[in-house]
Amino acid sequence: KKVVLAYSGGLDTSIILKWLQDEYNAEVITFTADLGQGEEVEPARQKALAMGIKPENIFILDIKEEFVKEYVFPMFRANTIYEGEYLLGTSIARPLIAKKQIEIANKMGADAVSHGATGKGNDQVRFELGYLALRPDITVIAPWREWDLNSREKLLAYAKEHGIEISKKHVDENGNPKVSPYSMDANLLHISYEGLHLENPAAEPEESMWLWTTSPENAPDTPEYITIGYKNGDPISVNGEEMSPATLLKTLNDYGNKHGIGRVDIVENRYVGMKARGCYETPGGTIMLKAHRAIESITLDREAAHLKDELMPRYAKLIYNGYWFSPERQMLQAAIDQTQKNVEGTVRLKLYKGNVMVVGRESTKSLFSEAHSTFEEDEVYNQKDAEGFIRLNALRFIIAGQTQNK
Ligand code: ARG
Ligand code: SIN
Repeated sequence: KKVVLAYSGGLDTSIILKWLQDEYNAEVITFTADLGQGEEVEPARQKALAMGIKPENIFILDIKEEFVKEYVFPMFRANTIYEGEYLLGTSIARPLIAKKQIEIANKMGADAVSHGATGKGNDQVRFELGYLALRPDITVIAPWREWDLNSREKLLAYAKEHGIEISKKHVDENGNPKVSPYSMDANLLHISYEGLHLENPAAEPEESMWLWTTSPENAPDTPEYITIGYKNGDPISVNGEEMSPATLLKTLNDYGNKHGIGRVDIVENRYVGMKARGCYETPGGTIMLKAHRAIESITLDREAAHLKDELMPRYAKLIYNGYWFSPERQMLQAAIDQTQKNVEGTVRLKLYKGNVMVVGRESTKSLFSEAHSTFEEDEVYNQKDAEGFIRLNALRFIIAGQTQNK
């Protein structure tokens, strides 16, 4: 077997690497993605080499721009939010990782792919639906569903036995396994925390859990104003300065982190059936969602906007459940994108202690007509027209009143 492994360089995927070599006698190709998780990716090369991976079998790719431009931005055009709270930071990154693994498999003549997601979560579904949509004949190896290394003790023992580097993160000074850290995932859009005491939905997370954002209490006492420029429904500039998609999201993350924006603590419904408690920090995404709705508020037709809003939960569920490459997601995307051609202009926002407030919006494509909406005298609107409009809309009530509701 020749296997392309989604390899972070961390302990778990290092164990998987070794296990694939031993259990499947596999030639392993490692793929490490820089998605803006804020951790160095280069150390993964040394670790892979130390485990006998050939230099030509090590892939380390910076895919930040592709991630934001082709995945994050299309999703934000729909104002996507899962179960009213979750901005889908992990969900939206999985299909891209799957796509890259398949591209590498095709290039290197590999017949299998592998990942480090457990058999209990959403990620396994997202990875594997992606693999199979893009290459139906691929063999999928999901070690967590196969092996019996189902505790920290067993994992650490396996690592020790096979000479895999165990860092201070994983054991205490006596070499005993530490309580595992939160189950975390990060990329330019968000960082997530699950597990440990979060498994009690009644328990508040301790302040030290949050790694990205300042707590709203400690955020600056003076508000900060920013403007975001839009074109075709995507943000293109901050404070008048044009930026690449990844740079723009990074810039908004910095503003959001400073002002304590984008913390969320939820219990969500996993696709496989159980409820799970998760905490998320999505600073830039939280700002983008507000800003996008604001620019749409002046540039989108009412019925197009409302239909978009009705479709959004369906679209969110497709992404959460891992159906990015499905025909139905592509169909919805085409409809959403079609609405965005006049979604351009600038939005002015005020950031203050965990809040994002829209304070202004402007567009040369604006549908807002002061002449029509003014409370002052106008020349364009005949108030008498409203009488017939209301009477015809009430016709059903009038007829019912005369017959049934007497
Ligand atoms: N619950 C979130 C989701 O399903 C986050 C998953 C985080 N994944 C991880 N491997 N830590 O999208
Ligand atoms: C995992 O099970 O690997 C992480 C959580 C999830 O995928 O939902």
